[in-house]
Amino acid sequence: MSHQDSSVDEAVERAVELAAAGQRTVLGIAGAPGSGKSTLARRVVAAVDERLGAGTAVQVPMDGFHLSNAALDALGRHGRKGAVDTFDADGYVALVRRLVVADTTVWAPDFDRRIDEPVAGSIAVAPTTRLVVSEGNYLLDDTEPWAALGDLFTETWFCAVDDGVRVDRLVGRHMRHGRDHDAARAWAVEVDGVNAARVAPTVIRASRTVRT
Ligand SMILES: Nc1ncnc2c1ncn2[C@@H]1O[C@H](COP(=O)(O)OP(=O)(O)OP(=O)(O)O)[C@@H](O)[C@H]1O
Ligand SMILES: [Mg+2]
Repeated sequence: MSHQDSSVDEAVERAVELAAAGQRTVLGIAGAPGSGKSTLARRVVAAVDERLGAGTAVQVPMDGFHLSNAALDALGRHGRKGAVDTFDADGYVALVRRLVVADTTVWAPDFDRRIDEPVAGSIAVAPTTRLVVSEGNYLLDDTEPWAALGDLFTETWFCAVDDGVRVDRLVGRHMRHGRDHDAARAWAVEVDGVNAARVAPTVIRASRTVRT
């Protein structure tokens, strides 16, 4: 597949096209922490529902598969929450497989930033839902089990943004969630930075880059 480079508006048009096609489409949106994945997915779902009817599209975040804080404590990984080994990757891949089949209502977990924990059974995906937009850091990772996702998504998009802008956005968000400026910056550069470095090269497997 040739690689497309597009604006958010062009990406939205493509999503409407996919949603109108008739059968279930599962779209993956990857990108570094703070690159705008969740915002793009929200915008796509809102635009598709506005054009084709409410409930045509639904957003399913990979973040619903964050391990719980208790599990991270037990594993000694709480200090690098968001790293590739702090998610239930097999659980996420299994969910995407079920989303592709589309024969029953699938209840997906969400991540609640207010309590900083995943919450099971949060998002209903009905068999009639045309477009599922799933988004997360590691959707294009080439290690198992993530690599299996390549055959499950209809298309995979990558959110691209200038690194300085991305870090500023993350600092802002970490501060809104209660960290002081120095702690927010340290987390954005050190913990999120390691994850961003892992995600960046995976753009080569994306079908489209979206400038956010
Ligand atoms: N196109 C945009 N223009 C301006 N700000 C944006 C844009 N997209 C996202 N942002 C802002 O950047 C921050 C991060 O965006 P978002 O939460 O969508 O990123 P993300 O890739 O989902 O991050 P994470 O990996 O941490 O879940 C948010 O504060 C959001 O409001
Ligand atoms: Mg997000």
